[in-house]
Amino acid sequence: MKIKNICCIGAGYVGGPTMAVIALKCPEIKVTVVDKSKEKIDLWNSKDLSKIPVYEPGLNEIVNQVRDKNLFFSNDISGSIQNAEMIFIAVNTPTKTSGKGKGMAADLSNVISSAKEIAKFSKSNKIVVEKSTLPVRTAEKLKEVLNSHNRKVKFEVLSNPEFLAEGTAIKDLFKSDRVLIGGDQTKTGQVAVESLVNIYKKWIPKNKILTTNVWSSELSKLVSNAMLAQRISSINSLSSVCEKTGANINEISKAVGMDSRIGPYFLKPSVGFGGSCFQKDILNLVYISKFYGLDEVAEYWHQVVKINNYQKERFASNIIEQIKKSKVGSKVSILGWAFKKNTNDSRESSSIYVTDVLLRNNINVSVYDPMVSKDKIVSDLLNLWRTKKINKTKIDDLLGRLKTEINYSDAIKDSNLTAILTEWDEFKLYDWKALVKTMKSPYAVYDGRNILPKLDDKINHIKLGVAYKL
Ligand code: NAD
Ligand code: UGA
Repeated sequence: MKIKNICCIGAGYVGGPTMAVIALKCPEIKVTVVDKSKEKIDLWNSKDLSKIPVYEPGLNEIVNQVRDKNLFFSNDISGSIQNAEMIFIAVNTPTKTSGKGKGMAADLSNVISSAKEIAKFSKSNKIVVEKSTLPVRTAEKLKEVLNSHNRKVKFEVLSNPEFLAEGTAIKDLFKSDRVLIGGDQTKTGQVAVESLVNIYKKWIPKNKILTTNVWSSELSKLVSNAMLAQRISSINSLSSVCEKTGANINEISKAVGMDSRIGPYFLKPSVGFGGSCFQKDILNLVYISKFYGLDEVAEYWHQVVKINNYQKERFASNIIEQIKKSKVGSKVSILGWAFKKNTNDSRESSSIYVTDVLLRNNINVSVYDPMVSKDKIVSDLLNLWRTKKINKTKIDDLLGRLKTEINYSDAIKDSNLTAILTEWDEFKLYDWKALVKTMKSPYAVYDGRNILPKLDDKINHIKLGVAYKL
């Protein structure tokens, strides 16, 4: 079946970039991205490309090239569903905050409401593609919802999980390690799989397009994220052993990663992984394992998240300990709010956790990030405090101790301690010798990403990261 019209529900970090690349590589296909948020769609349609809601290197150029030619951003959900032969669901699937599975299972309400809308507006047969990350066997539930709400048309459900990483999304989409497509082993299921294969074939070599059954495809996505996160927790857990023994975690990471059976990737020690997916997907895997009575398996994977929390707690406690020793004020500057470099996304960023702990310990905090806005920084903290049920008076008190700066030197000036929490390249290029002189003595720089060059031989390898004492 030749696809001429695609609709994607969800104009976020996945829907936007993936559809932009499909539109670029398949000029004969009309691609429409819809979202329930009018504000977001308006931003995607901004004339000023610096306002589009997702910052990704290379994305603006593609949007500029294909928007309003064969890529459209629209609020017309019903019309876009009606016109499309293939509909991607790329909506958010966060961890549930209430009900059965609270704090562990994925909240599928956005996926289910998308399926209901597809069923409601479809007047011809559709191929529905799961692009969101979903628990294994969600396709079964989706089919049930689609068929029970519309008996007139036929739906094929495919699983096509997304493996892009933020900050390198366009590069990842152009040169994917693999594209995974899961479909029913029936004749119509295989025709649907072939239609999607034909789209990716336009730029992905055929041997990198993997077709599997639906359940393997759904589960492979959770397993990929769990394996990646597990490597980070493994190296981070050993950073504390290094601190006790005098070994250097960077040297360990290099030595271990040079074993070709292990490989060098995802072995960078850090103040803990962030991002909207690793934690939620592992908790989801833990929940699924428990659901099937596999308690040992659940506990094994749960430990990856527990070590990540331990690493964040350890880092924050070390700062508090250091600040308590200081008798000349208590200001900490936080450099980096995004959960990694080259993105404006701060979901689950370690900076949120560390800043919250510092503020609640009566420490003044000033934050600088080159890409994340002041409003976003404040709203990340407010969301956290609301979930912790902190009252308004206390929130005002905490906010009174927070400053966000648009200039890194203002954030650093007069602080006792600077903590680097995102590995932005610009942080490496600052004149640190000059900057530390603007801090209050005795000052320290805690490099939570181990990115700064060695300034001189007085570097102390303390805790996680490096404290510079010049
Ligand atoms: P996001 O929050 O950036 O975007 C999701 C969008 O869906 C939002 O704009 C929201 O308004 C919209 N939406 C939700 N319900 C809707 C509905 N019923 N109708 C219309 N619009 C609706 O999320 P994201 O980061 O793009 O992630 C989407 C999915 O992709 C998740 O399942 C995630 O786990 C997965 N994923 C994300 C990444 C990533 O790097 N962010 C990578 C791979 C996979
Ligand atoms: C991750 C996966 O890499 C993608 O393949 C996947 O598609 C995506 O999750 C998803 O499902 O959402 P992402 O979270 O965007 O992508 O970014 P990563 O590069 O994986 O980094 C995640 C976190 O781990 C960041 O906070 C990063 O700084 C941290 N990290 C990464 C480390 O601390 N050490 C490392 O060695 C690598």
